[in-house]
Amino acid sequence: MSAKYINFKENPSEDFIKEAGIAIKNGNLVIFPTETVYGIGANGLNETDVKKIFKAKGRNQNNPLILHIADLSMLDTIAKDISVVEKKLINAFFPGPFTIILNKKSTVPNAVTAGLDTVAVRMPNNYIAKQLILSAGIPIAAPSANVSGKPSGTNIEDIKNELIDKVDYIIDDGPCNIGLESTVVRVINGIPTILRPGKITAEEIRAVVGNVNIDSNIFKKCDSATKVLSPGVKYKHYAPSTKCVLVYSPNNDCLIDKINELIAQTPNSLVVSCLENVDCFHSKYVLNIGQADNLEEISKNIFSTLRKVDSFNVDLVIIQGVAQEGLGLAIMNRLLRACEYNYIEC
Ligand code: TXA
Ligand code: MG
Repeated sequence: MSAKYINFKENPSEDFIKEAGIAIKNGNLVIFPTETVYGIGANGLNETDVKKIFKAKGRNQNNPLILHIADLSMLDTIAKDISVVEKKLINAFFPGPFTIILNKKSTVPNAVTAGLDTVAVRMPNNYIAKQLILSAGIPIAAPSANVSGKPSGTNIEDIKNELIDKVDYIIDDGPCNIGLESTVVRVINGIPTILRPGKITAEEIRAVVGNVNIDSNIFKKCDSATKVLSPGVKYKHYAPSTKCVLVYSPNNDCLIDKINELIAQTPNSLVVSCLENVDCFHSKYVLNIGQADNLEEISKNIFSTLRKVDSFNVDLVIIQGVAQEGLGLAIMNRLLRACEYNYIEC
């Protein structure tokens, strides 16, 4: 199978989106853009179709999917007993890079929720995604577009090789605006708890409902025996095949010294560095991930950079970290996982 493809920036065909939406309704898989990362979408109300996503990605069936909706009338078809706090969050952050875990209705197939009695719901803020869902007329189940374990797909060039033979349609909208997956939140005892950090920060959530917790599993390695609130944290994600280490210091001179020390131990290494530091390292290779004080730029670059590192054929990848504040929390969460929690702070 080879997918039907459109570059929407060059050829903004509404008919193609309509056709792809109807195809989803009828059992096809579609790679489509959102403002966070690309998704692989299927009919979210059809058990058989949802299972095709797991097969295409090689995803563990115990890891549930997000249902993507276009408007609030769709929310009522899949979720129930929505609390006041949940409503406030929905009003504040839909549409946007925000996913909320709600009690599910029986219309939602078990394949979507991995048998849980909750469902993850998101309303993407991307024109194509919205029109696609409207034309499908049902919520679209979609994980990030990547083979399981790999960095999430944020542009079609990165995704094509992996998935072109596994899907029916691909809609190319250029690089995603945000580049990191949505913030996943579950309200527990009235308090929003961040299960996966993202573009919507803890500070922004606190500003809306006065309170926020961060699930401690965000920072630690979980295995199949760990009891978790979000199954996704248990699976290997984002990690290149090359060994990686994440290094952070609030003091830039210490950071540079530490990284150069690591390079002295493993000379055949690659450094993933912020723009300001690219000339400071004695390593064979350096990749720039963006300006240190521009976390939006780093977010945009993170997954495409992680996808590049294996091609350098080095013994070690040393990645410069950022402060875990605001959007920095989400960036560090992805980098920690990419490095399989191999972390040095100095
Ligand atoms: O930005 C995004 O969220 C992208 C775009 C395509 O929307 N999607 C995405 O999906 O990142 P995925 O499948 O790669 O990540 C969904 C995360 C997983 O960690 C999963 O375990 C968690 O959400 N999740 C889904 N349903 C859940 C539930 N009912 N309870 C707890 N966690 C859930
Ligand atoms: Mg994913």
